[in-house]
Amino acid sequence: DVIDVSGLTKKGFFTYDPGFMSTAPCESKITFIDGAKGVLLHRGYPIDQLAEHSDYLETCYLLLNGELPSKEQKATFADEVKKHSKVDDSVAQIIKGFSRNAHPMAIMGSAVNALAAVYHEETDITSEESRRVTAYRLIGQMPTLAAMAHKHRQGEEFIAPDADLAYAENYLNMTFGTAGQSPKVNQVLAKAMDRIFLLHADHEQNASTSTVRLSGSSGTNPFAAIAAGIATLWGPAHGGANEAVLNMLEEIGSVDNIDTYVAKAKDKNDPFRLMGFGHRVYKNFDPRAKVMKQAADEVLSELGLENDPLLAIAKRLEKIALEDEYFIQKKLYPNVDFYSGIIMKAIGIPTEAFTVIFATGRAVGWYAHWQEMVSAPYKIGRPRQLYTGYSKRDYPA
Ligand code: ACO
Repeated sequence: DVIDVSGLTKKGFFTYDPGFMSTAPCESKITFIDGAKGVLLHRGYPIDQLAEHSDYLETCYLLLNGELPSKEQKATFADEVKKHSKVDDSVAQIIKGFSRNAHPMAIMGSAVNALAAVYHEETDITSEESRRVTAYRLIGQMPTLAAMAHKHRQGEEFIAPDADLAYAENYLNMTFGTAGQSPKVNQVLAKAMDRIFLLHADHEQNASTSTVRLSGSSGTNPFAAIAAGIATLWGPAHGGANEAVLNMLEEIGSVDNIDTYVAKAKDKNDPFRLMGFGHRVYKNFDPRAKVMKQAADEVLSELGLENDPLLAIAKRLEKIALEDEYFIQKKLYPNVDFYSGIIMKAIGIPTEAFTVIFATGRAVGWYAHWQEMVSAPYKIGRPRQLYTGYSKRDYPA
């Protein structure tokens, strides 16, 4: 809508667009989405091709630099990320200060903000080299922090990153390994974790990425801007959806109760929805869900969990959604959160830590957008408002 605001603010016109549904605050060359056609491209490359032929770190390089790396560039990038993956002791102390039952997203947000304190003096957002090193630190330390939050909540000793392990292997070892013992990492699980990170790497101007851009537009420290993104991702309407999937499976409790819940989901007078089905942007299919489904099947078979009661409910729901007329007609396919929730549950990641994994994968997307913004002339973000309060009035004498 075009609103005449004369008399209340500076004379002129502006758009009133709740939720910014039709407003582009920036240009971007990073990610393209066509929800109707189920297309997601990073720098032009389809997500399913990246999931099949690439890996998380190579996709990070692509998002940050615009092109796929050569073999040497890929090796150097992975090496630098590894070199910068150890977390400063001051941040480890902050994590240890949290109560054992603190939410892992609260720990993660605080820890990333604390990285701003560790690196503030040497961070120069106008320097390409400084921005490169900050990317290594962020990508390198996110899985370390995710694992430290887990270990702290378990009351176990932290495990430092291991120079002999690849990115996802290191995450699994730091999370599920035992300090002082040599790492034993299951390759099927490591591949599935790498895919989870990769499939969450970027999704253009969603709420958390827009937050990072808006926050970063003030010229703030990049770790502080990323911490703002983490706060935004935490909400159930954004990164919390895969947690909601598992909570729903637990509420259903048994395959015998599925019909009742499916009937509730179809009932117009019942607010209940099947979590993990449908998507705001993808109306035919979510290209990430296909890849994630394959990874889920591989993980369940590797761990011999095909008959796990909770996962049996998930499998049955998936079948109903693909065959039932209501779900077909409304294009309600299982989404990426449905399958990533199943994989993380099978691997043993606590439900409340699912969003931390999402944040770990998404950190590169947030950073790529921040970097794209600060690498060119930009303005501080300053949305307008449609004022609906009182006109000027006098204080009662
Ligand atoms: N279960 C049952 N019915 C559903 C579901 C569901 N999960 N999702 C949508 N519907 C129905 C609605 O009742 C509506 O029916 P109507 O046309 O008879 O009124 C119709 O499908 C369209 O629903 P909308 O809410 O208009 O679709 P929208 O695109 O706005 O919502 C959303 C998408 C929010 C993802 C929705 O499908 C949902 O709530 N899904 C469950 C939660 C979930 O999994 N969220 C994570 C998705 S991933 C992400 O977006 C980050």
